[in-house]
Amino acid sequence: MPKLMRPSRAGRNLLLAVPVATFALIGNASAQCVNCTNDAPKDILTNLIDQSNSDYLTQSPQNLMMMGNNPAYFVVDDGKALFERKRGPNNKSLETCDFGKGPGVLAGAYAEMPRYFEDTGRVMDLETRLVHCMKTIQGFPEDAPELTNRSQIRALMAYVAAQSNGYAWDPPMEHPLEKAMRDAGEAMFYRRSSILDFSCNTCHGETGKRIRASVLPNMNNPKEWTKAVSWPAQRVGKSSVRSPYQRVRGCYWQMRKGRINRRSDAAIAIMSFWKDAARGEPAILPDLKR
Ligand code: HEC
Repeated sequence: MPKLMRPSRAGRNLLLAVPVATFALIGNASAQCVNCTNDAPKDILTNLIDQSNSDYLTQSPQNLMMMGNNPAYFVVDDGKALFERKRGPNNKSLETCDFGKGPGVLAGAYAEMPRYFEDTGRVMDLETRLVHCMKTIQGFPEDAPELTNRSQIRALMAYVAAQSNGYAWDPPMEHPLEKAMRDAGEAMFYRRSSILDFSCNTCHGETGKRIRASVLPNMNNPKEWTKAVSWPAQRVGKSSVRSPYQRVRGCYWQMRKGRINRRSDAAIAIMSFWKDAARGEPAILPDLKR
């Protein structure tokens, strides 16, 4: 047990500690911000618009105007509180969860997911990894309702993902399984099937394709595709934050294909491919979508 300090001593220490802490904070932020801009989501999008001539990126000036007040920030805050709260049979927070850059390291971690994890022998996406930590660190059993509480999991995802805002997408491709998952996702992206004989590429393989008024993003244009894969995001049309898995599911529904399961290897594979296709461009987190 540390001894209590006398008030005068504590006061002196505080005077010293404040400037030191401030310096450490600033020093840290820039040191961690490797491979990243310090820009807000709105500025990142504005820069992408300036660098490209994209109808997809410019289709909603209203959304661009609202980005500074994105309602998703409330969800990010909820996610932070939940992340730091001691929960589960082990009464632990998620602050020691390892998202691939070491226990507790959140800065830039989501920009490098999906990735291979030694401890599970699997390539995992953010949602899968979060649920893994809820089981192993917090001790939630397989059938715990917390593991399927989608709005809570989405809030946790929104918080962790927001710590990668401005980081360049950089999913690792060193482990053979990382490469295999990306390649499987590529095959899935181009495979035409079902009653409409559509593939993802039918709608997302060229610039300027539209469905009614919506301009669709082109997977071959990383400046468009980085916004496309920036999830979780606020969907204005749904008045809520949606996860990357919900986007995958929505597009599978549009193709009239069988439903793909959340946290399945198939869902993770398609996200490995779509992140790889946005490699090097800055993540917009949280984004605001139509
Ligand atoms: C029938 C055309 C169609 C097909 C096929 C299709 N999508 Fe989509 N996709 C859409 C539409 C429509 C949207 C929503 C655009 C919007 O909200 O403005 C969308 C949105 C997306 C987004 C987010 C874009 C954004 O602006 O936020 C991603 C990523 C995406 N699709 C990936 C895929 C993948 C991966 C597949 C294959 C599994 C696929 N899509 C198949 C039509 C399609």
